Amino acid sequence: MSYCFILMECWRRSKCIIFHSYMTDSNIKASREPEGFYVWFGEGVVMESRGERSDVPMRMVVGETEIRLKQGDITREEVDAIVNAANSGLLGGGGVDGAIHRAGGPEIMEECRQIRARQGGCPTGKAVVTGAGKLKARYVIHAVGPVWRGGDGGEEELLRSAYRESLQRAAERQLQRIAFPSLSTGAYGYPVDKAAPVALSEVIRFLKEENHSLREVRFVLFNEETYQAYETALSRLKES
Ligand code: APR
Repeated sequence: MSYCFILMECWRRSKCIIFHSYMTDSNIKASREPEGFYVWFGEGVVMESRGERSDVPMRMVVGETEIRLKQGDITREEVDAIVNAANSGLLGGGGVDGAIHRAGGPEIMEECRQIRARQGGCPTGKAVVTGAGKLKARYVIHAVGPVWRGGDGGEEELLRSAYRESLQRAAERQLQRIAFPSLSTGAYGYPVDKAAPVALSEVIRFLKEENHSLREVRFVLFNEETYQAYETALSRLKES
């Protein structure tokens, strides 16, 4: 064992662990368990790394605020506010909207109805706030992203606006932790590889340039493809 030199490179979101070693014993096993990963050499455990997959996310720090990416269901997040990918009528629907209303209960829809009666809904690119019913979050910020129409219809600015407005609603309430889904990339058809850099760069710009109380902006991405797109985009933004 004293001859061992190990360099491990862990792909954080991957089930694969890559390592290079000079071994006297080639009996190496590596596996990743839900709560962490372990590496064995023969019979003895020589390395153990703990922490849920979601505890080792891709992250970036902007001033005093951390941006985190994780894969999961946003309705389970314990944050001050979760963002909903809503429609202009605030009428509920499928995707993350349906999941939030199902998990949060009818109070959220009742508040949406009141907002509709007061101001006729929520235009594309804007965001409104309700309570969060039975969810662990305190608020739901209903943001309306654009429908993708090929990219020449102002979709990028509208998507930026939906993120910016959501962050403004959170800042107005002095919130510290907010969780976003990937707005517009489901039913609204915005290609996720195009949406991810727009979403992340707008959040970074906001955190750098605007007054806010935020300490964590979490992107909760429902599937692997979406997570990978955001991971790639964040890596590029960190390098630039
Ligand atoms: N947690 C996190 N993300 C989720 C969840 C969830 N529980 N459920 C779905 N998603 C993801 C989708 O996989 C997609 O990546 O949210 C992203 C956005 O997809 P949609 O929910 O379809 O939102 P969007 O594309 O903005 O379309 C909004 O769909 O359901 C309607 O009422 C909604 O009309 C509005 C439209």
